[in-house]
Amino acid sequence: MAPEDMMFSYRGISYPSTITSPETLEALKSFEARDDDVILVGYPKTGTNWLEQMVKELADARYTEEEMKERINAEKKLETFQRLELGDPGVYEILVLVRNPKDTAVSYYHFSNNLPLSPSFDSWDEFFADFMNGKLAWGSYFDHLAEWNKYIDNERIITISYEELKEDPILGMKKIASFFGFSLCEEDFSRIAKKTSFKAMKEKCGETHGKFGDALFRKGVVGNWRDVFSEAQNEEMYRKFQDSLGGTKMAAKIKYDVYCKA
Ligand code: A3P
Repeated sequence: MAPEDMMFSYRGISYPSTITSPETLEALKSFEARDDDVILVGYPKTGTNWLEQMVKELADARYTEEEMKERINAEKKLETFQRLELGDPGVYEILVLVRNPKDTAVSYYHFSNNLPLSPSFDSWDEFFADFMNGKLAWGSYFDHLAEWNKYIDNERIITISYEELKEDPILGMKKIASFFGFSLCEEDFSRIAKKTSFKAMKEKCGETHGKFGDALFRKGVVGNWRDVFSEAQNEEMYRKFQDSLGGTKMAAKIKYDVYCKA
């Protein structure tokens, strides 16, 4: 496929035509959520597959092993689609996942070059320029964060960061469980923390994510950006972050000074 055919633009944002279409996005306007649905919002490479697994485990902890087997069989019969792309933040309870922009960019760069879903890049510098200009599939991460910052105080929304889940997964899961009203015992939390650790998920990634597994579960650490960012790129991103989010609650949540300090 020619690079220009791999993307289409919908309401000013690019999407990969290999996995979605304008018709799909248009049809989502009439999507109706049930009141017990959990909607997870995340820009690519912020850890969406990790948190999705965690939330599934938290929600399913109430079922016995036998009941789980039945649920898995029933699920296999359904055609599930897991990426919704659009939704009305006023209506559902929403879990917003954020990650520091430097690690998100580096993760997105490797992902773009390891998967044939979107155009690949000749160099990190070329990718960095597009990341800063928001020219990538799913648009600008800075615009995405600025948009969700508008809802950060909404009582139906909880924002969680990749870094806080890394630092203390059990505490992070307890916040999520309490927000959605899942009741679990201490052992459930430790069991799920083990099952959703990077090592455990990477080991199973062939089974859970097929041929995409290796590209999705890459390093799973905080601070990998240090290997690739130049001094000039550190400065450029700092300025962009300040311009887009400086002084906001979203900026405080992301802790740029801690996780992106050059
Ligand atoms: P890296 O490329 O920095 O390793 P997404 O699922 O939104 O595409 O995000 C992918 C990123 O989340 C990758 O980051 C991946 O390694 C990381 N990730 C996936 N599972 C994880 C886990 N269990 N613990 C920590 N990081 C995880």
